[in-house]
Amino acid sequence: MANSSRAPGRSRRLRAALVVSAAVGLLATAGAVVLPGSASAASTLGASAAESGRYFGTAVAVSRLNDSAYTTILNREFNQVTAENEMKIDALQPNQGQFNYGNADRLVQHARSQGMLVRGHTLAWHSQQPGWMQNMSGTTLRNAMLNHVTQVATHFRGQIEWWDVVNEAFADGGSGARRDSNLQRTGNDWIEAAFRAARQADPNADLCYNDYNIDNWNDAKTQAVYRMVQDFKSRGVPIDCVGLQSHFTGGSNYPSNYRTTLSSFAALGVDVHITELDIRNAPSDAYRNVVNDCLAVARCKGITVWGIRDSDSWRSSENPLLFNGSGQKKPAYDAVLTALNNGTPPTGNPTTPPPTGNPTTPPPSGGCTATVTPGQVWGDRYNTSVTVSGASTWSVVVAITPPQRISTTWSGSPTWDSSGNVMTMRSNGSGNTFGFTTMMNGNSSARPQIRSCTAG
Ligand code: XIL
Repeated sequence: MANSSRAPGRSRRLRAALVVSAAVGLLATAGAVVLPGSASAASTLGASAAESGRYFGTAVAVSRLNDSAYTTILNREFNQVTAENEMKIDALQPNQGQFNYGNADRLVQHARSQGMLVRGHTLAWHSQQPGWMQNMSGTTLRNAMLNHVTQVATHFRGQIEWWDVVNEAFADGGSGARRDSNLQRTGNDWIEAAFRAARQADPNADLCYNDYNIDNWNDAKTQAVYRMVQDFKSRGVPIDCVGLQSHFTGGSNYPSNYRTTLSSFAALGVDVHITELDIRNAPSDAYRNVVNDCLAVARCKGITVWGIRDSDSWRSSENPLLFNGSGQKKPAYDAVLTALNNGTPPTGNPTTPPPTGNPTTPPPSGGCTATVTPGQVWGDRYNTSVTVSGASTWSVVVAITPPQRISTTWSGSPTWDSSGNVMTMRSNGSGNTFGFTTMMNGNSSARPQIRSCTAG
């Protein structure tokens, strides 16, 4: 899909990496078990957002994954993650040409084991550059930046739903100008060059421009970003989305025209994402307003809060998040959950676990048999594993029912038809069992159908 025009609401599905890891093995093994209480639709942030086809995510600090109180909330409430620091340039390429993917891969692996979507943050930015890059300029810097984009987007190909390709490239205040930086001084076209390199490296990720203080429609900075996106769309520069960080901390406030800003960007033909939300003292009304504004704009695809507990926040003294330092839900949590549920009331009985039976017999002619094992079910998504017998190399065609959508796969090589609803999974040497996560997107009863199993 190497172009900039994408149908509204069409999301990329993850072509997950094909590594059979211990974690995925465990997941597949545990996959036949429906955990008690796990099918509580609309009682968590992620499940409630999924009722309207959206996600609710959080920034994650990988070091905190060892904190079980933290991970318990993460796994229960959220279905999208952004690395708070681990995918920044200084983290991934500390020395020129030496890439360090360990922590970022750990986060992706965790997300994948939980069926969470991953936002990549960020490929090109004036801040958190490694020392070697800070000292560069001109063509050398431009090439180093493009190489970083290419290497990193290639490394994570198939695992990232959205990339923040460029972060914070505009100046604050009334100028509407680009922010001065070493990258900006390589030439005004550095942003589009980064987007083109990212598209080439990972054609299936959605590519976003991300910034703060672009929430108030009347601000010069908002208008300047708007004009850039309009220009990119008119010239075919590959851009799919705009991320509004929406840090209503550090002196910034929720503006009453926020919904106008979201819908105005969306009208340019890009999705909008609220990517780093936090609000000073977490007032319920402002959090509720943000959710309602997103729900009112079809192309607002989801909300990511910038941390889980107040104690995890980069601005912890402002207590801006949905959980307190003890991991308890704050009033703003209830306001957000209620707002998400009012967006689109759940269809059907949300507490009834989806059926576990599934037609498993494909047409016999293909020389192999594919057997479905229903896997773990969460409020908003479920896992499925498929075991092939009768052939050691094979392709299995799986159809899902929209608006359900496969978000992650493992242990096979998937390709997709143009509708995005039919996946052909080919063996890739990882054994005879492959798996995938399906987002329910409001339909909690449909289950994938095996259309065929073909040997060879
Ligand atoms: C912040 C992190 O939360 C901090 O831990 C780090 O020290 C600095 O960066 N805009 C962004 C984020 O795009 O990457 C920033 O994250 C917050 C502002």
